[in-house]
Amino acid sequence: AKYTIVDQDTCIACSACGIAAPDLFDYNDEGISFACLDDNQGMTPVPEDMEDDLEDAYESCPSNSIKMADEPFTCKKEAAS
Ligand code: F3S
Repeated sequence: AKYTIVDQDTCIACSACGIAAPDLFDYNDEGISFACLDDNQGMTPVPEDMEDDLEDAYESCPSNSIKMADEPFTCKKEAAS
C-alpha cells in the first residue's frame, strides 16, 4: 500500500495536488494542503484506486511537498494543521 502526507513547512499553497487528487488532498484556511484521508497523519493506506491520482499529485507539486511511501509515516503530528 501507499501512504501520503504533506510537508506543510514547504507547501506553497499552489493547489496542484488537490486538482490532481481531489479525494486525497484538501486545504486549510491558509491554502496549505493536507492529506484528507487521516488529517495529514500519513497512517492510512491510500485506496488502490486513488494511487494513480496520488502519483499525479506527487509529480505536480512544485515544491515536492507531497510525500509518498510504502510504509506509514510516524511521529508526524507536528505536520498536522
Ligand atoms: Fe502545496 Fe504542493 Fe499541494 S505546494 S498545495 S502540496 S501541490
